Amino acid sequence: MSERFAPSLPLHAVPLKDLRRTPIRLNPDSVPRATPVLQDRLHRPLRDLRISVTDRCNFRCAYCMPKEVFDKDYAYLPHAALLSFEEITRIARQFLACGVRKIRLTGGEPLLRKNLEELIAMLAALRTPDGQPPELTLTTNGSLLARKAQALKAAGLQRVTVSLDALDDDVFRHMNDVDFPVSDVLQGIAAAQDAGLAEGAGLKVNMVVKRSSNLHEVLPMARHFRGSGVTLRFIEYMDVGATNGWRMDEVVPSAELLSLLKSEFALQALAPDIPGATAQRWAYVDELGRPDPDLGEIGFISSVTQAFCRDCNRARLSTEGQLYLCLFAHQGHDLRSLLRGGASDAELAGAIDQLWQGRSDRYSELRAHQSPASEVAEDGGRRIEMSYIGG
Ligand code: GTP
Ligand code: 5AD
Ligand code: SF4
Ligand code: SF4
Repeated sequence: MSERFAPSLPLHAVPLKDLRRTPIRLNPDSVPRATPVLQDRLHRPLRDLRISVTDRCNFRCAYCMPKEVFDKDYAYLPHAALLSFEEITRIARQFLACGVRKIRLTGGEPLLRKNLEELIAMLAALRTPDGQPPELTLTTNGSLLARKAQALKAAGLQRVTVSLDALDDDVFRHMNDVDFPVSDVLQGIAAAQDAGLAEGAGLKVNMVVKRSSNLHEVLPMARHFRGSGVTLRFIEYMDVGATNGWRMDEVVPSAELLSLLKSEFALQALAPDIPGATAQRWAYVDELGRPDPDLGEIGFISSVTQAFCRDCNRARLSTEGQLYLCLFAHQGHDLRSLLRGGASDAELAGAIDQLWQGRSDRYSELRAHQSPASEVAEDGGRRIEMSYIGG
C-alpha cells in the first residue's frame, strides 16, 4: 500500500461512513430560483438519482470492499438507520419534482435488500411533473439475478447493469474474493435477457479493469459479448473511497484499451446517447464500415484519464438518507433527519433545490490536474466508500 493511502488507524475500527452529516438548514426566506430548470453553480441540471439500498455485499472486490477492511467486525448500518421503502419513495418523488428523470438502485449489492421488488413497484408508480414514469434501473453483481430477474421485471424494473470483471473462472473468483463462480453470473445475465430486461440495448455489463488482475480478460470479454445484445463497458479503476489502496499504475487508460480492442475489432466512435453520459461509445462496424446493430457497441468510462464532471447530473442518496453531490464527497447532507423530523414535501423539495443550487463539485476534473487528494480531508472527514454510496 502506498504511503498516501496508509491508514492512520486500523481501518475496521472506524466505520468508514461519513459520520459528520451536515444538517440541512431550511431557508424560510428562500426566493424562487432564477432559472426554470434547476441548475447547480456550474449550470448542470439534476437528472440522475442513484439510491443505495444496502451497504452490504456478498462479494469482496478488492477495489471496492477489500476483505481486510470489510471483515466480520465491520460496522454495517443497523436496520433502523436504513431508509424504509416509504421514505425512499417519498424522497424520490421530490427528486422527480426537481428534475430527476432516471433512478438507479445500487448498493452494496441491492438484491440483498429484502423485498426489493416492493420498492421497485413503488418507484415505478411515480411520475415526473410532465406525467412520465422515471427510467428505472439497477446495478447488481448478478449473483442473485437468475432467481430474481422475472420478479424485478414484473415489478416495473426497465433495465439492469451487471458488474462482471472476467470470464475466466479463476480470475473471476479471485477478483470477487469470495470464490463465487462466473457461471452463476452468466446465468443471471441470461435470465435478465429472458425476462425482457435487455430490450432496447438495456442490458449493460460493467468491467472494472485493473492492470495486474484482469487486463488479459478484456479481449475475451469483448469476444463473448459482441453480438449478444449486451453492451460491455470498461471502467477505469478509480481512487474512490479510503480503503482500496488505489495506485495509478493499476489504472489502464481507456486509450490503451481502445488500441487493444482495435487490434482485433473494427470500431467507430458514436455520439453520446444522452447529455451527461458517463461512457464514450464505440460501435462494432460491418464490412462496409457502418455501425452494425447486430454486433452492438462497447463503452469506456474514463473517470481517471478523461473526467466527465462537466455535465455531471448525478445525485446520490446513501442507504441512511444522506445526499451526496459527488462520488468523492467527504460529507453528506442529512435528508433523513429532515424527513423524520416532520418536514413537508415542499420543504424536502426546497432543501434538494437549495443543495443542488449550491453544488460545485468536480472532483475527477480537479484530480486530473493534481495528484489524488488524500482520502482523509483537512477537517478529518474520510472520503465515502462506493459500497455505502453506490456506483
Ligand atoms: P447508464 O444509464 O446505463 O448508461 O448508466 P451510467 O453509466 O450512468 O451508470 P453506471 O452506474 O452504469 O456507471 C458505471 C460506472 O461509472 C460506475 O460503476 C462508476 O464506476 C462510474 N461512474 C458512474 N457515475 C459516475 C460519476 O458520477 N463519477 C465518476 N467519477 N464515476 C462514475
Ligand atoms: N473503480 C471503478 N469502479 C468501481 N466500482 C466500485 N469500485 C470501483 C472503483 N474503485 C463500480 C464498478 C462496479 C460498481 C458496483 O461499482 O462499476 O461494477
Ligand atoms: Fe460488491 Fe459491486 Fe463492490 Fe464488488 S464492486 S464489492 S460486487 S458492491
Ligand atoms: Fe460527478 Fe463527482 Fe463523478 Fe465528477 S467526480 S463526474 S462531479 S460524481
